[in-house]
Amino acid sequence: MPELKNCRFELLNKNRIELRQDRNEISAACDYLSSKPYDLLIEIGCLHGGSAIVLSGLLKTGSTIVLVDPINRGSAAAKSLKWSCDWLRGQGFKVFLVIGLSFDPKIRRKVHTLAENFQSGLLHIDGDHATWSVLLDYYAFVDCIGPEGAVIFHDVVTNPRVKIAWDQLCQEGHSNRVFYNGRNSTWASGIGVLEPLLFVGASPNG
Ligand SMILES: C[S@@+](CC[C@H](N)C(=O)[O-])C[C@H]1O[C@@H](n2cnc3c(N)ncnc32)[C@H](O)[C@@H]1O
Repeated sequence: MPELKNCRFELLNKNRIELRQDRNEISAACDYLSSKPYDLLIEIGCLHGGSAIVLSGLLKTGSTIVLVDPINRGSAAAKSLKWSCDWLRGQGFKVFLVIGLSFDPKIRRKVHTLAENFQSGLLHIDGDHATWSVLLDYYAFVDCIGPEGAVIFHDVVTNPRVKIAWDQLCQEGHSNRVFYNGRNSTWASGIGVLEPLLFVGASPNG
């Protein structure tokens, strides 16, 4: 695994927020993605905001961050998520928290309104891990990330339901990479990065 860079781990060490990811996996994915500055992050399943903070290291200053989660407003997780959103705003990001399930049509419309006209967005899919949810999240939001964007999937190795969705998408011919830290690590689950081939603006005759 490459050394940890392009990641904002220093905040996690203060125990203000938590991260439900293997640090080596997410670092390796970030290193892989770091050659391009991204202008948008959509995260499906943000929980405490830990992965959003880490992934914000890949964004241009002033980028938009859209976080989607049905989080219970009075919960401890909501408190740490608020801390994470405030921290991200303090860094100059435009942060929008959309409370609800990604497959609710109202929530989808909200995300689409917030995430219009971006060139190089990141979509992190880490919500409901059922095969159909992963595929729905992908197809619902992939057109928001623009022609230079990338999609990050959590659990593509160890969760068989996510793996089915991941394998299906890889068969569509998109460029793809998996970062997996092995069975002995507590949070290791395999992070898949897909750079979709989107035919933006092409006429039916090419
Ligand atoms: C594994 S946790 C996310 C961890 C977080 N991304 C991190 O790395 O720190 C999964 C989250 O997805 C949320 N969730 C489940 N189904 C969802 C859906 N359909 N849309 C949005 N969020 C969802 C749950 O409420 C939970 O907070």
